[in-house]
This record gives sequence, C-alpha cells and structure tokens, in this order.
Amino acid sequence: MKDIYILGIESSCDETSASIVKNGREEIATVISSQIDIHKDFGGVVPEIASRHHVKNITIVLEECLQKANMKMEEIDAIAITYGPGLIGSLLVGLEAAKTLSFIYNKPLIPVHHIAGHIYANSLVQELEFPLLAVVVSGGHTELIEMKEHYRFKKIGGTLDDAIGECYDKVARVIGLEYPGGPKLDKLSTEGKDTYKLPIPLKDNSYNFSFSGLKSAVINLVHNENQRKNEIRQADLATSFQNVVVKSITSKVKKAVLEKNIKHIIIAGGVAANRVLRKSMQELAEELGVELSVPPIKYCTDNAAMIAAAGYYAYLDKRIGSLNLNSKSQDTLK
Ligand code: KG4
Ligand code: ZN
Repeated sequence: MKDIYILGIESSCDETSASIVKNGREEIATVISSQIDIHKDFGGVVPEIASRHHVKNITIVLEECLQKANMKMEEIDAIAITYGPGLIGSLLVGLEAAKTLSFIYNKPLIPVHHIAGHIYANSLVQELEFPLLAVVVSGGHTELIEMKEHYRFKKIGGTLDDAIGECYDKVARVIGLEYPGGPKLDKLSTEGKDTYKLPIPLKDNSYNFSFSGLKSAVINLVHNENQRKNEIRQADLATSFQNVVVKSITSKVKKAVLEKNIKHIIIAGGVAANRVLRKSMQELAEELGVELSVPPIKYCTDNAAMIAAAGYYAYLDKRIGSLNLNSKSQDTLK
C-alpha cells in the first residue's frame, strides 16, 4: 500500500502547531509554538491575544515543519485540521490556513475533533487494540470514551461540572502556584503527605465525575485556615487533593473496564502528564490484566502530531470536509 502523509494543523487554544505524520503512526516532523509565557501574567489564556499570536505564527510554523520534514506540499496526501472544540478565534486561524493550502494544492481537508486528536496521540506510540477505553483528561474535558473500532467513539461518562485540568489549575492558584498550575501542583505533591481530609467526589454507580465540590472544599479549607492565621502546608494539600482526584478517576475506569470488557486503556489530554495518575493507572491495568498506553509528555499537551495521526484514520474513513467547513467552539465527539 502507498504511504500516506498527513499534514496536521492545531490552533485550538494557545499552541500553534503543524506536523507531518506517515500512515497515522510515524511522526516525521512537528513544530509547536507555545504562548504559555504570554498568558502567564493573566492567570489564564486570553482569547483575543491568543488569536493574534496564532495569526503571527501560523505561516512560520507551517514553513518550519515542511523544512524540518524536508518535504514539499505536493508530497502531502491530505490536511487534517482541528475544527473544534476550542477558542473560536484561535480555531479560525488554523482552519483558514488549512483551507487555503487545501485549495491551492488541491488536497483533501480532514476535519478532526480535538479530543480525537488527544486519543490518537497514543497511536504514535502503540497500535490501538479494541474494545478500547479512552480516559480523556484535559483542561476542557474529562470523559470516558469507549471505542470498538477505529474512529468510532461512544461517550459513556464525563464530568458533570468542572473539567479535571480546570480544577487542577484553580486549586493550584488557591494554594499560590502560577498558571498553568496543574504541572506545578503535581510536582509539589511529591514532597507532601496525604494529611488533609477532602470529600471523594461522586461515589455513585455511573461513569460520571464531578470536581466542583472538591474544588470548593479546597477553597473553603484555605480560607478557613487563613482566617485562623494557620499556615497552609502547600505540599500536603497538593498531595491530599491529587490522591482524591486520581482515586475518583481510577474507580470509574475500573468499573468501565470490567463492565465493557475493555482490552486496552489509553490516557489522553494534558492531565495524562500527571505522575500520580500515570502510576495509579499502571497499577490498575496490571491488576485487571489489560493493556495501558500513556503518551510521552510531548504528546500529552496540545500538538499537531496527534491531529495528523487522527486525521489519517479519519481519511481512511473518508471523512473529507469541504471548503465550507467552519470552526466550532463546542462539539461532541462523533
Ligand atoms: O490537553 P491540554 O494541553 O489542553 C486542553 O485541551 O485543555 O491540557 C491542559 C491542562 C491544564 O489544565 C494543565 O494544568 C493540565 O492539563 N496539566 C496537568 C499536568 N500537566 C498538564 N495537570 C495535572 N498534572 C500535570 N502533570
Ligand atoms: Zn488539548
């Protein structure tokens, strides 16, 4: 079979990225321009500033990616683009670039859902086996997705309120860590002990999660301790918080694996970088005797290699978009 080269483009939040992936599994070249330092001072991503930076960076990133791969646009088979969900202004910059290239070089345009990208980041390291359970944990999503074959997604559970990454970032801010606080809280927890008692969220029979109660519990705890002029043991609070969050995820994953006969668990999204989550999932997979893939850190946060990998399977599934394709700030994974 002829090799298929997909150019992926990702600009849904604060990373402008382009990547070329061969046959959905082999990364040829990836370029990522991150805006983390620009948004740090604001404590979160400022949509308007993000869009402006994407405009500035997109052509540079695309050119650099082709150069790094030592390839020309003519050698690309199709262009995969994150059409959503994400920040609308940011998404539109990537989409317009993708459409322009698709029109000029007459290449098929493949719309890719951002979460499909996070899931297929795993295909860059290991062949996916079905039935599969994708544990999607990012700044905007906390979902359990069941897959019985390539590019067929069924959401079986998700958060009822805050996304897990959002909760990490808010709790991190309350204990005085800089944005994005998730990775910093994770690091700090290695020095702490599980001494603070926090409520375990949503201990029910569903596959759903809830994090807002836990977030409020941390905020109240910090507030009360401050009022009493008691010192907060930051590292201990980070450890206690982290253990509760991870327990909540692993208990629902265990239930899904047993009830859905899952063979392969994959972790996807920015929070997949979390060391306690990785370790607990590893232990769970061993206990249940199922395969587990955890993407290397570079594939956990937003990047275009994952979009190109997903784009390959969408291309095989003939999911071709037209030049009328629009970005969507929200959309369910189908
Ligand atoms: O997937 P991602 O890059 O962007 C979205 O699509 O949302 O995820 C970013 C989120 C942020 O909330 C960040 O704090 C969190 O992932 N994150 C972590 C860790 N690394 C990144 N949260 C906990 N522990 C980490 N090690
Ligand atoms: Zn993401």
